[in-house]
Amino acid sequence: MTRIGIIGGGNIGEALLSGIIGNGTDSKNVIVSDPAAARLEQLKEKYGLITTEDSQEAADGADFLFICVKPDIVPVVLESVAETVEKNDNETVIVSVAAGVTINSIETLLPAGTPVVRVMPNTPMLVGKGASALAGGRFADEGHVEAVQEIMSATGTVVKVKEKDIDAVTAVSGSGPAYFFMVTEAMIDAGVNLGLPRPLAQELAIATADGAAQMMAQGQSQEGGDDPVTLRTKVSSPGGTTSAATRVLDEEGLRRAFYKAMEACKNRSVELGES
Ligand SMILES: NC(=O)c1ccc[n+]([C@@H]2O[C@H](COP(=O)([O-])OP(=O)(O)OC[C@H]3O[C@@H](n4cnc5c(N)ncnc54)[C@H](OP(=O)(O)O)[C@@H]3O)[C@@H](O)[C@H]2O)c1
Repeated sequence: MTRIGIIGGGNIGEALLSGIIGNGTDSKNVIVSDPAAARLEQLKEKYGLITTEDSQEAADGADFLFICVKPDIVPVVLESVAETVEKNDNETVIVSVAAGVTINSIETLLPAGTPVVRVMPNTPMLVGKGASALAGGRFADEGHVEAVQEIMSATGTVVKVKEKDIDAVTAVSGSGPAYFFMVTEAMIDAGVNLGLPRPLAQELAIATADGAAQMMAQGQSQEGGDDPVTLRTKVSSPGGTTSAATRVLDEEGLRRAFYKAMEACKNRSVELGES
């Protein structure tokens, strides 16, 4: 039976465990560690899993140990579990979701030969709609990477990438949900400005985001399906209302803002890794 340890029961830790347990993994084989007893109590009540304040306990006997703490805490956590990982009778695959933290820096804090897989997930995995990219380290063979891919697939779409692309992936999908939340928030405010009651503007904006996302996903999954450009062209009749709106978005620099924002995100990811 595969034993999964999760260190850090925050946003991503919870999104991960909810996907894993929702996909049929017995919650008794999942153990989460976090310093906050109240948070552990919440997770235990909601998912029925094993919890601990001791990260070594989460690492003990783990086949896969997910590191879901903030990037600056990763070295502390790795140092605290290294000995346990070395003593484990079974092989423990270390899976880090921390933005910016390189596989090489993780490997140097672990017993020689420990397989490491780096994953860049995002929070929609909380609702089974995550987008994750993963890359294996020097000691992770195809089998290790595929096993992590299989676990992560319980949380949504998973793709394999080269590690050099992970900072760019962070800018697209890792931080991407926040961009869509912000766009939706702006649409709600603009709807209110046009005289709609806020609850109505919110309901319509969210339903529109959902519908548009589903159309794009359908286009992506079908051979010859419509891509985002085609979908937008189809709803933009010449001289019509949508064209009037998208022209203003272009004039006001929507695309330029995204280029700059995502470059800033990627650079920040690199910076986090360096520090
Ligand atoms: N959020 C995202 O959208 C996103 C997307 C992709 C990747 N990531 C990556 O995912 C990681 C986690 O992010 P998050 O948003 O889930 O952060 P978070 O909500 O702050 O969760 C981190 C959790 O780790 C706990 N923690 C701190 N020190 C610990 C230790 N020594 N042992 C065990 N647990 C410890 C924290 O507890 P306290 O709060 O009590 O300190 C907190 O509950 C980060 O490295 C981030 O780069 C996040």
